[in-house]
Amino acid sequence: MKQICVIGVGYVGLVTAACFADLGNRVVALDVDEKRVENLKKGIMPIYEPGLEELVRRNTKSDRLSFTTSYAEGLKGAEFAFIAVGTPSGVHGNADLQYVDSAARSIAKHMTAPLIIINKSTVPIGTGDWVADVVRSAQPEPIDFAVVSCPEFLREGSAIGDFMNPYRNVIGSLNRDAADKVAQLHLPLRAPIVITDLRTAEMIKYASNAFLATKISFINELADLCERVGADVKEVAAGMGYDARIGRHFLDAGLGWGGSCFPKDVEALAYMAKEKGLNPRILNDVMEVNYDRRRAVAGHLEKLLDGNLKGKTIGLLGLAFKPNTDDMRDAPSVDISNSLIAAGARVRGYDPVARKTAAPWMTVVEIFDDVYKMAQGCHALVVVTEWNEFKQLDLEKIKELLECPVIYDGRNIYDPALMKELGFSYRAIGRGMNGK
Ligand code: NAD
Ligand code: UGA
Repeated sequence: MKQICVIGVGYVGLVTAACFADLGNRVVALDVDEKRVENLKKGIMPIYEPGLEELVRRNTKSDRLSFTTSYAEGLKGAEFAFIAVGTPSGVHGNADLQYVDSAARSIAKHMTAPLIIINKSTVPIGTGDWVADVVRSAQPEPIDFAVVSCPEFLREGSAIGDFMNPYRNVIGSLNRDAADKVAQLHLPLRAPIVITDLRTAEMIKYASNAFLATKISFINELADLCERVGADVKEVAAGMGYDARIGRHFLDAGLGWGGSCFPKDVEALAYMAKEKGLNPRILNDVMEVNYDRRRAVAGHLEKLLDGNLKGKTIGLLGLAFKPNTDDMRDAPSVDISNSLIAAGARVRGYDPVARKTAAPWMTVVEIFDDVYKMAQGCHALVVVTEWNEFKQLDLEKIKELLECPVIYDGRNIYDPALMKELGFSYRAIGRGMNGK
């Protein structure tokens, strides 16, 4: 049993803390947000993540997991301190490191024994060395420490499974002893462990996210061509995916990527390249192709609705940036609703879990708690997030409720032939039928 402090109890920190506790360690999870910590002590989760509440409850009950706002309490007896605070986009597209800076300073001030500081936040290359400088200069008196990079690769919505069954764990440090100790901590996960230097570990994280985003933008560009030439992008992706060098994952064409990570990470990587005098041509295009997906929706709907969105009511199926999360950060639904409103439409929205988190992001969108009530009187529906619930809708009932039987399927969840049979005016992404 190791003693661990996890700093930042958000999507990554809370999952990391609960999973390490479940692996038999003693974990204190620390956050500066008092309300969040107070709620966690009562078993109230700050986020929606399948399985998390049960995992937290089990480990809190068995005294392996506790919560605090106090660095002194969190670091007491800890051998490892994971930094898992946010690194949002700064004003120029750079990663904003203010939370990492503040966490590093607090660690320096409150550590009383040698410590391995592990950076789990996604941070620009060179941040690990900078954190070491910050800690060293903020320590009231010198105490031994090492900084290790251990980036996180989990996805929201499947975070626990991803953490517990990772493709790999990446551990970066020039301090071999510290790296080995962090590797030991990850051994129960039985995944390949890549031990490298700090900067390479930091780059592996950005490179992975940027590559996945590139795959999606690539298939989206192809989807537009598929429409023009009468091919079906779903089958193209499936056919490509059998080749192990390509793989089937992250080739789902649609409204593109959003969320708390790909957008800020691709932008931050491009920013780093520019800072170093390079021209990140691929990354720039990957972003442009992606945001074009959102911008194009209003135009497609106009074509489906006699060339005009003025006075029309459009219902959005799904608001969260992806299924199985309530996260609204850079969700395509926000840009799409804004562009529809700008074109004169009234917008409604429904999401199985993100209704509360969506409200502040879309103040003029009427958010419903029942999908059929939302559909009643709409001139068109747009599938924005592919929640399973939408795959099982009573489409005949939906058709009766709609003012016009128009569905723009931004995630390709329906069968074009069936939709035609049901009498919908249906448009999907990159499916051959659109081109006919
Ligand atoms: P989040 O916004 O959900 O949580 C961050 C938490 O840190 C908040 O609860 C905040 O109150 C707390 N915090 C801020 N400053 C603090 C401080 N000085 N001391 C203690 N707590 C502090 O963020 P997240 O989505 O979990 O992301 C965290 C990092 O992990 C980011 O760098 C992100 O890029 C990376 N990441 C996120 C995901 C994901 O799926 N969300 C996956 C992999 C990596
Ligand atoms: C992503 C990565 O998958 C994780 O490995 C990484 O740890 C995380 O970012 C991070 O650094 O925060 P996440 O953002 O939770 O995870 O969700 P994904 O499942 O990757 O989806 C990201 C976006 O891409 C979503 O908007 C999703 O709708 C979109 N997407 C995904 C597609 O449009 N097509 C696909 O084929 C796959």
